[in-house]
Amino acid sequence: MRKRIDTLDATPTKGIFHPMIADYDLNRSICELVDNALDVWVKNKRTKVIVIDIDLDTRQQTIVVQDNAGGLARNDLRFIVSPGESGTSPADETIGIFGVGSKRAVVALAQEVRITTRFHGEVTHQIAFNDEWINDPSWDLDVFETNSIPEGKTVVELFKLREEITKTSVENLKDHLQTTYGKFLINKNVKLKLNA
Ligand SMILES: Nc1ncnc2c1ncn2[C@@H]1O[C@H](COP(=O)(O)OP(=O)(O)O)[C@@H](O)[C@H]1O
Ligand SMILES: [Mg+2]
Repeated sequence: MRKRIDTLDATPTKGIFHPMIADYDLNRSICELVDNALDVWVKNKRTKVIVIDIDLDTRQQTIVVQDNAGGLARNDLRFIVSPGESGTSPADETIGIFGVGSKRAVVALAQEVRITTRFHGEVTHQIAFNDEWINDPSWDLDVFETNSIPEGKTVVELFKLREEITKTSVENLKDHLQTTYGKFLINKNVKLKLNA
């Protein structure tokens, strides 16, 4: 015998973020952010010059990753925070862990996250969240319009880092980026900067 008697609400809770925060290190997290910018560049047939600028401030203990890959449209903003959401299909040629890369990376690194982005023909949008939001049952997130940044740009700012960044972290990241993106960096359209 098998008959449907009820429907369960299987919507995940915010608890889904907790395993995402566990065991994710600086190098992997930064690479997820770099991957996303490169994904857009690959999608656009590798024609434009892409600049990805990573800044690790060991004094302020903040991380800023900026790219000019294209930005997120207003209607796609949830892609960057909602676990499982993606602007690409699993069949696309992308790097990074499908659908979890960006959120896992930012949440794993920092207790406070601010993302500012401007898509072609749109105003500048900003979303921000912190541990309070991560621990709050609601998934609602305010979207702000802020002072303009150049079209196509995305700025990810991380504050209240979960682990201290040191001079050694910067050196290790540099090595890791060189090994990971060696093949991309040969292309003169790709500029990846670390504390430069
Ligand atoms: N730097 C970025 N520039 C433009 N879009 C981005 C950027 N980072 C993330 N996105 C958008 O957010 C989506 C989710 O990213 P992510 O969680 O890493 O999953 P995935 O890369 O597998 O799609 C991407 O598919 C893309 O649409
Ligand atoms: Mg990704």
